[in-house]
Amino acid sequence: MVAPLKVGLAGLGTVGGAVARLLQQQDSNALANTLAVRCGRPIELVAVTARAKSEMDALGIRPVRFVSSPAALATDPEIDAFVELMGGEGDPAKSAIEAALGAGKSVVTANKALLARHGVALAALAERSGCALNFEAAVAGAIPVVKTLREGFAGNTFERVYGILNGTCNYILSRMEGEKLSFADCLREAQKLGYAEADPTFDVEGFDTAQKLAILASLAFGVQVDPDAVYVEGISSLAPEDLEAAAELGYRIKLLGVAVRTEQGIEQRVHPTMVPLDSPIARVMGVTNAVSLDGAGFPPITLVGPGAGGAATASAVVTDLADIARGVRAMPFGRSVAQLAGSRRAPMQRHEGGYYIRLQAVDRPGTFATIARHLADEQISLESIVQRRRNGAPHGGSDPDGAQSPAPVILITYATTEDAVRKALREIKNRGVIAGNPQVIRIEKN
Ligand code: HSE
Repeated sequence: MVAPLKVGLAGLGTVGGAVARLLQQQDSNALANTLAVRCGRPIELVAVTARAKSEMDALGIRPVRFVSSPAALATDPEIDAFVELMGGEGDPAKSAIEAALGAGKSVVTANKALLARHGVALAALAERSGCALNFEAAVAGAIPVVKTLREGFAGNTFERVYGILNGTCNYILSRMEGEKLSFADCLREAQKLGYAEADPTFDVEGFDTAQKLAILASLAFGVQVDPDAVYVEGISSLAPEDLEAAAELGYRIKLLGVAVRTEQGIEQRVHPTMVPLDSPIARVMGVTNAVSLDGAGFPPITLVGPGAGGAATASAVVTDLADIARGVRAMPFGRSVAQLAGSRRAPMQRHEGGYYIRLQAVDRPGTFATIARHLADEQISLESIVQRRRNGAPHGGSDPDGAQSPAPVILITYATTEDAVRKALREIKNRGVIAGNPQVIRIEKN
């Protein structure tokens, strides 16, 4: 009989617990042991570590050896592969992975924060030690997008990779649009349902998406993974009227991570994005994730599925272990670290595309002429203009106190540059014809 792959697991939270259960279920019935059949050898959980042994007892799994620390488990002589599911971009996860690779153990991790920050150094260490460093679970949960990019398209060159990489944000946006609720109400709801963290900043301000995008950009375009190269805007400034107006104009607003090849290099950006209603990505609602791979010489491929949760993430972890059991070892970012190009932050001023602009126009003669003049000065051409009535006031009327309140105006531009939009809006604001700050949302075409 072929020797099993012996696994040490660090971290017994939602994902760690699901991995432990999945491995033991597979292990418990030799005839139905699909994993062993597919890998040619069993995968056996032999040791775990967690903050307390009681975490293992509470899981209801068959007890395995409990090791006192991640560092001790990482170099444990009995294990062949070390699974890191503790999270956090620093220690103990980082030093445990380094120790495991240094000791010749292959590593599986779901830790996007650690990979985004230290992925290049860890990949170099894995290369030197001849071990695998697998991280399918770090991006988009059960969707096998890491493997798809790393191994599924070895001969293709992508122009753009983009997707919904944060289920919390997609849930909030779906609810804001469907129920016409405010961002704050939907966030509270997401927190109650356990989708959003107690401190939701990381999700809703786009940082979680940025870390995942940096990993995908490295795999797709061969640049060094670098979260600081990603331009980031979150969804907290969106209002229900933006989602409503987008739908009327044939779009839906999604928080997208987009990595695209441009003349200036690989542009990586995370921001609320208007996507055409008929695009596959627009149809992805709720906590679901999706990734579109575009430009390989055929129409885009879109992968859709659950991006978080114990079962979805454990599926990806076990897939990574299966590769190690089979003896398959891809380079972590699909090529040698020496072949990864340096990355730099997207020059967003030069970003080109269409824009949605929502202004609160002051109701007096000449307002539109002023707006139109400054747009024309920057060579910005308009695809649509929608003027809405002021809330609660008949057109041409006034507020109860007699003052004219501003009226919402929505503009959709043809392709222009970020620089032109920013300059025109600065001038329009300086002329006093709008109240408050403009809402600006970039449009991503199919
Ligand atoms: N917080 C993430 C999300 C899941 O909402 O999609 C973990 O990456």
